[in-house]
Amino acid sequence: MATTLTLPKWYDLHTHFRQGANVRHYIADHLAMGCAGALAMPNTQPPVALVTGPDTASAWSIESYRDILLQAGADTFDQLIVPLYLTRDTTPRMIEQGASSGLLRACKYYPPHGTTNSEHGVPMDEWIGGDVFKAMEAHGIVLCIHGEQHALSGSNYFDENQTAESTFYTRSLPRILDAHPDLKIVCEHITTKTAADFVSSAPDHVGATITPQHLLYTVGHLIQGLKYHLYCLPVVKFEKDRDALRSAVSNAGQSKFFAGTDSAPHTNKATECGCAAGCYTGGCAPQLYAMALEEAGLDLESETGRKAFESFLCTNGPAFYGFPTSAESFALMREPSTTAVLKTEEGPVTPLPSGMGLEMHWAIA
Ligand code: NCD
Ligand code: ZN
Repeated sequence: MATTLTLPKWYDLHTHFRQGANVRHYIADHLAMGCAGALAMPNTQPPVALVTGPDTASAWSIESYRDILLQAGADTFDQLIVPLYLTRDTTPRMIEQGASSGLLRACKYYPPHGTTNSEHGVPMDEWIGGDVFKAMEAHGIVLCIHGEQHALSGSNYFDENQTAESTFYTRSLPRILDAHPDLKIVCEHITTKTAADFVSSAPDHVGATITPQHLLYTVGHLIQGLKYHLYCLPVVKFEKDRDALRSAVSNAGQSKFFAGTDSAPHTNKATECGCAAGCYTGGCAPQLYAMALEEAGLDLESETGRKAFESFLCTNGPAFYGFPTSAESFALMREPSTTAVLKTEEGPVTPLPSGMGLEMHWAIA
């Protein structure tokens, strides 16, 4: 009999459901992998940069984007959070009103031009100490951070001693904490030892999400054969970084690190010279997380191993955002499973395991 791990349904606290006809497919893939709820990123076109009210040519509202998602199948989720994309038009009043209506739970910082659809972002230096962050701090609104220093290039952007992420965590994060000691922060999709160490030693209201790809792979896997389905931002890093992420998640009793897949489907992945950033892990994220935690040395069949996995995947995230662990369960079975390219009218979406030729050895029961 194959080993079965029965777990509470889990939460994906960073994912991209996009817009248009494909939203339905992406949400269906999330539901099929035992996901109880999601934080759906606001980097649509136009961005989700208003809380309520009618959409305009330059911004959608959380209210209307949530409706789109709910109508495309997300009504089955227990929780659906859409963070507000922080732009030059964000005001403290929007934060106050959004907080009192309950529609606003989180805001998203994008480094300008740092990743897919991030051109509306405003540099972090302009937010620190300002009224928007003060209002978020006062109303318990979570700051979700894409932590990479913007506008760096060449070896300042990426080399063995420093990357856009390590620079951001060294320069900006301590300043945010000093200026806003009560601001709840999620350091999203962290990839470096610098970021993992920062989060571990920060106060309890600073947490982090980690993706399956950053726990499984390093930059060598990306470069050997230019496996562009592994290309996402922040880019996969070095062995010492992956080790730090692995120890962060396998430390039994930790409550700061939780699942956020950053599943980011692209129907036109390859461009003329280069490719779009984002790995698609809809349908297979818990299987990949289970493999990654085993590679990190956890025995998922032991009580401590299973507990560490459950904390990371199912309980720490909802606890951080202030909602209960799911009362429903799903199960993973230790048996080989495969993924298939999702064929859509907008083009194919290749899930990470297919793109990497990876055979999974866990399956959704
Ligand atoms: C994301 C996307 O495609 O929307 N891409 C990615 O590589 N992670 C944007 C993001 O979260 O940075
Ligand atoms: Zn993302």
